[in-house]
Amino acid sequence: MTVKALYPGTFDPPTNGHVDLIQRGSKLFDHLTVAVLNNPGKNPLFSVSERVEMLEEATRALNNVSVATFDGMMVEFARQQGASAVLRGIRAISDYEYEFQMALMNRRLAPEIETVFLQPAGRYSFISSRMLKEVFSFGGDVTGLVPPNVLKRLRGRIGKSERS
Ligand SMILES: Nc1ncnc2c1ncn2[C@@H]1O[C@H](COP(=O)(O)OP(=O)(O)O)[C@@H](O)[C@H]1O
Ligand SMILES: [Mg+2]
Repeated sequence: MTVKALYPGTFDPPTNGHVDLIQRGSKLFDHLTVAVLNNPGKNPLFSVSERVEMLEEATRALNNVSVATFDGMMVEFARQQGASAVLRGIRAISDYEYEFQMALMNRRLAPEIETVFLQPAGRYSFISSRMLKEVFSFGGDVTGLVPPNVLKRLRGRIGKSERS
C-alpha cells in the first residue's frame, strides 16, 4: 500500500520546525505534499509563490516531498491529491485543542482521511512563524530557527518594508 500525505499550512515563512516535521513525514509516508494555503485574509508577509519557492529550496534533498498550493477546503485538496493522511504538528498542549477540533471536523467531512500529529525536536518546539517575524522585525537574531534561504529572504523583505 502506498500512503500519500498532505502537510497543509500557511508557512509564512517556513521555519526549522516546519522542516523538521517535513523530514519526519518524509520517512513515514511514501509521498508528502507540502500544501501552502492561499489565504490573503491572513495578510501574509510573503506571497504564496515566495513561500512555495522557500519550501522547495528547503526540501530539495527529500525526493518524496513536493510543494503545492491550494485554496478552499483542505480535505477537498487532499482528496484531489489522493492523500489518505494529513500531517499536522503539535508543539505544545496549547496547539492540541484547536488541532483536535479541526481533525474531527475534517474527519466528518472526509472520513477516509486520517490526521497524523507529529512533534518536532524539542529545540524547535517553541518556534512559530508569527513570533519569528515579530522578533526579526525588531532586529532579534533568528539564526538557526529558519533555513538559511528563508533568513536571506527575511533580510531582504523586512529591510525593504522599513525603507518604503
Ligand atoms: N515549530 C514547529 N514545530 C512543529 N510543527 C510546527 C511548528 N510550527 C508550526 N507547526 C505546525 O505546522 C503546521 C502549519 O503551521 P502554520 O504554518 O502556522 O499554518 P496554520 O495557519 O495552518 O497554523 C501546523 O500543524 C503547526 O502546528
Ligand atoms: Mg499556525
